[in-house]
Amino acid sequence: MLEKINIYIEEINAFVPADANQLEEFRIKFLGRKGIMGDLFEEMKTLTPEQKRETGKWMNELKNAAEGKVSHYKDLFENNSAEASAHSDLSRPSQYFSLGARHPISIVRNLIIRIFSDIGFVISEGPEIEDDWHNFGALNFPPDHPARDMQDTFFIEKGEKEMALRTHTSSVQVRVMENSRPPIRTISPGRVYRNEAISARAHCIFHQVEGLYIDKDVSFADLKQTLLYFARELFGAETKIRLRPSYFPFTEPSAEMDISCNICGGSGCNICKHSGWVEILGCGMVDPQVLENNHINSKEFTGFAFGMGIERITMLKYQVNDLRVFFENDVRFLEQFKSLGL
Ligand code: PHE
Repeated sequence: MLEKINIYIEEINAFVPADANQLEEFRIKFLGRKGIMGDLFEEMKTLTPEQKRETGKWMNELKNAAEGKVSHYKDLFENNSAEASAHSDLSRPSQYFSLGARHPISIVRNLIIRIFSDIGFVISEGPEIEDDWHNFGALNFPPDHPARDMQDTFFIEKGEKEMALRTHTSSVQVRVMENSRPPIRTISPGRVYRNEAISARAHCIFHQVEGLYIDKDVSFADLKQTLLYFARELFGAETKIRLRPSYFPFTEPSAEMDISCNICGGSGCNICKHSGWVEILGCGMVDPQVLENNHINSKEFTGFAFGMGIERITMLKYQVNDLRVFFENDVRFLEQFKSLGL
């Protein structure tokens, strides 16, 4: 049935009526009482509720396309009934112009930003070409420390100095700590780069949102509650979270956070490899040394930080199984996000 609907949509998009009569024929064919829409609605009754939901979305698309055509040309024919006036106003649009869709990565980035701004986080941005101090040094990666291998880096030469494409947006948070005093509550969305082989699960360029909260008496419980709120806002109120001990040079203790699998609801599927859980981010309490590196008194202030890849979250949220599609800009993929209206 979906295929049939799609063929109709294509037919509608390609339709250009020569006059008002042709337009009326078109209207009756699709939207008339015994028209195609009616038949399709009849056919929908035989579907399962799940199929109905999916088909319903496309039916809407079909209806909007047909109604859009009719109202557009109706306007045109009514206003331009006389040949002369049609030719006299050359500024009139000639064809129905279809608007594009937002890229899924932008959709999810905006959602994440909205969720954290609702609880008082502000956005910070920084350069994509970074020096060693902001990407590594200030974050407790000593020179030659094996932890640097956790993030394979693209180095570039810039004059005398060796620079790098930032491997995470934690670098932005170093800049925020340098330039402001606590309380600090910020998220830094942005593009990051790692020297990784391109596959369905990894790319040499991707997007992150990292967060930082520094104030008096910030505890691990605050971290956990903030991330629980975030997971539920993004993946639904039923979502559970789980924190597993991990290691990052700039947080202590460090953890990785899993959410209960939003595809199978925790009962086990391919996406969660039958564990019921999927990892979505890294987090931890800011290491006191990192605070001191940025001249923030670690006796007075504590903080938490977290970081996530937007591609990964988008894959889970919209059930996309290959990360490369986000960079190919194939309209057939991107178009599917149009109906979200975001
Ligand atoms: N910067 C880490 C990364 O890119 C993520 C992270 C941020 C982990 C903050 C813990 C705390 O992998």
